[in-house]
Amino acid sequence: MNDVLLIAVFALVGAAGAGLAGAVVLRLVRHRSVAVSLAVVAAVTVTAMLAGTLAVAQAMFLSAHDLWVVTVVVAMAALVSMATALVLGRWVVARSRALTRAARDFGEGGGFCAPAGTVTAELAALTRELASTSARLDASRRRERALEASRRELVAWISHDLRTPLAGLRAMAEALEDGMAADPGRYHRQIRTEVDRLTGMVTDLFELSRIHAGALTLSPSRMSVYDLVGDALSGADPLAREHGVRLVGEDVAAVPVEVDGKEMTRVLANLLVNAIRHTPADGTVAVAAERREGAVVVSVTDGCGGIPAEDLPRVFDTGWRGAEARTPPAGAGLGLAIVRGIVEAHAGRAEVRNVPGGCRFEVSLPTAAG
Ligand SMILES: Nc1ncnc2c1ncn2[C@@H]1O[C@H](COP(=O)(O)OP(=O)(O)OP(=O)(O)O)[C@@H](O)[C@H]1O
Ligand SMILES: [Mg+2]
Repeated sequence: MNDVLLIAVFALVGAAGAGLAGAVVLRLVRHRSVAVSLAVVAAVTVTAMLAGTLAVAQAMFLSAHDLWVVTVVVAMAALVSMATALVLGRWVVARSRALTRAARDFGEGGGFCAPAGTVTAELAALTRELASTSARLDASRRRERALEASRRELVAWISHDLRTPLAGLRAMAEALEDGMAADPGRYHRQIRTEVDRLTGMVTDLFELSRIHAGALTLSPSRMSVYDLVGDALSGADPLAREHGVRLVGEDVAAVPVEVDGKEMTRVLANLLVNAIRHTPADGTVAVAAERREGAVVVSVTDGCGGIPAEDLPRVFDTGWRGAEARTPPAGAGLGLAIVRGIVEAHAGRAEVRNVPGGCRFEVSLPTAAG
């Protein structure tokens, strides 16, 4: 029993010495390839065994012949484990190099193409992570390009929309100046209408740029949806009369909300103006407001006959105005982008869907607490 204990102590001391030396070497090579570390680990294992054996032999527990036998066995083990470590190391190195190449390609703008073949669990996890990062990057690049394109289009459209009425204004002003206008009163009225329209467009552009810059500062106060809708309806009444459209707002619940009254009135006005413009004479535009799962949903339903399904996701895009002629007095396509911007600034949602005979725009706003 005593002998066994002694052998264990000697073997432990020998192996610990080798282990310590191995730890120092591993620390020195920690920045090198994983293949080097694997070879060091294999070498340390074998050396630890040999050192333990030599320590035991030193203490005279082994005969010279037995020591020779053990040394040969350990040498063979060393050979095989070093070879295994090298093969494994080369495999891991090759796989991680392939992964590095794939990552470099995707960093330079291409998509991420996962290298073929089996890899270790860690490299597989890294590959999955890179693939999902690449997909996210791709989606954001696409979004960025679409946004850039629509911004460029918007600038082109707006310049066109401004240039045409400005040319008209100039012609009218010149005619008045030269005393060539047959009916100066009509010219003056027309000039005023055009200037009002242009002012509205510039105001919309300014509002939209504030929304996009995140500079829209809200001054929320507690009010009833009932009053909000009532104000919007009376504001839109003259336009509805002009178009021969009936405005109804009977199903409006008196739910309290905490909103910026001025901005929210603008939201409802934009929706109502659109609805009236797209509803044929004798048609009806209905406004309703109901409580739904902690939110209040204000809806404006018109009789436009429905928006084509492929256009539905685009109606809130800045500058989008469907297949309508892009000549004045058509709008600039800013109204719904402003609606969505203001509603989202209120932590709400703006959506549209088709209903029989027309479409329904819905604005959900969180209800005020208490
Ligand atoms: N109530 C509606 N019914 C049918 N189509 C609509 C309705 N509201 C909007 N649309 C479609 O969506 C497009 C975008 O609407 P939006 O209010 O953003 O712009 P606009 O009315 O054309 O111009 P602006 O509001 O800047 O004067 C419209 O041109 C129209 O094609
Ligand atoms: Mg509009």
